[in-house]
Amino acid sequence: MNILLLGSGGREHALAWKMKQSEKLGNLYVAPGNAGTNLIAKNVDIKVTDFQAIKNFVLDNEINMIVVGPEDPLVEGVYDFFKQDADTSHIPVIGPSKLGAQLEGSKDFAKRFMQKHNIPTARYASFTLDNVDEGYAFLESLKSPYVLKADGLAAGKGVLIIEDLEEAKRELKAMLSGMFGKSSKTVVIEEFLSGIECSVFVLTDGNSYKILPVAKDYKRIGEGDTGLNTGGMGAVSPVSFADGEFMRKVEERIVVPTVDGLKKDGIDYKGFIFIGLIKVGDEPLVIEYNVRMGDPETEVVMPRIESDLVDLLEGVATGTLNNKSLKIDDRYAVTVMLVSGGYPGDYEKNKEITGLNDVSDSIVFHAGTKDSDGKTLTNGGRVIAVTSYGKTKDEALALSFDNAEKIGFDKKYFRRDIGFDLK
Ligand code: AMP
Ligand code: GLY
Repeated sequence: MNILLLGSGGREHALAWKMKQSEKLGNLYVAPGNAGTNLIAKNVDIKVTDFQAIKNFVLDNEINMIVVGPEDPLVEGVYDFFKQDADTSHIPVIGPSKLGAQLEGSKDFAKRFMQKHNIPTARYASFTLDNVDEGYAFLESLKSPYVLKADGLAAGKGVLIIEDLEEAKRELKAMLSGMFGKSSKTVVIEEFLSGIECSVFVLTDGNSYKILPVAKDYKRIGEGDTGLNTGGMGAVSPVSFADGEFMRKVEERIVVPTVDGLKKDGIDYKGFIFIGLIKVGDEPLVIEYNVRMGDPETEVVMPRIESDLVDLLEGVATGTLNNKSLKIDDRYAVTVMLVSGGYPGDYEKNKEITGLNDVSDSIVFHAGTKDSDGKTLTNGGRVIAVTSYGKTKDEALALSFDNAEKIGFDKKYFRRDIGFDLK
């Protein structure tokens, strides 16, 4: 089977790495990819949202399956584009339809879906500029801190958590007036939940599902979870507090109603569902849905899957996921993200990366990298994810931290406390 994978981050390198282990894989292409994917697959210089160029490539290269890494092409309807075109309708796209992608593309849509299907989540209401006064009144009915969310995609920046009521009102008005462009024309206000978060990944063919290894990511730039939000500075799997009893509640109250709800609502969904969960007391509630794998969670989830990923994805495409088995490695996997100094603010690119070949006993996943004249250069805020296995979390982390020191580039930074809050 020839596969085209869309995306260019650590997530895509990890997906490509896992697919490469499959005997079912023929040619693997990644568009646009990074220096790491180019080592194990063939990079193709096409933008993930240029559907016409993707179609031409797919037809010219006898691609049998398209796997979508990031959310943008899904929200823009890549699934429907291929399904509705007679030339490509036989080529499966792993990812939800445009409507299904609204679970991530619109927080208001996701909240309505959860309410309709009795999926536990924070109490909320949605507002536009037309009823901003009702928004102020809703804020007054809540306790501090106040959670304001831009309805649409905002590159992970659309959520504000504010202590002061008057400031929350001002920010609500600013958001509705275009602070995040059209993404914040509608704002979801919700009750603040206090607890610890984790990421649950589900693979579904629209009928049955498999729950992939659970992971926890570390979003803040600073140690002790301080400072600005990033795309993710590291991840750990499994997650000690997501024990058997907790995961049974997650499956029963959240995963089953989500998959059944999609089906009942006639939403075509064959792909990954990323459920951002919070454990409040002993109970799981949904913070958000994403319609793709997480990054850097994929860099620990894929290494813990023993089964053939291409075979599982074939099960998704053909509606036979139920007949596939999912075997999980019971070791820990952790990843530590090496980032460019200054990230998530301004940072420089094109710094030479050294020491990649000195790494042993860890897996190097490239995130923001590119090839240039035989050198590997930094090409983003998040540069390299160093993943390791261990019988314990600490054993795995020791390997990743050790290897993180061996890789060099100007102004490299990484958090040395990944997993600090877990047993
Ligand atoms: P989201 O983009 O919806 O995942 O929100 C980003 C982050 O904001 C989450 O990972 C949480 O840490 C935090 N957050 C979102 N909603 C809530 C909530 N209702 N209560 C507490 N924290 C929240
Ligand atoms: N690690 C969080 C995300 O991928 O959105």
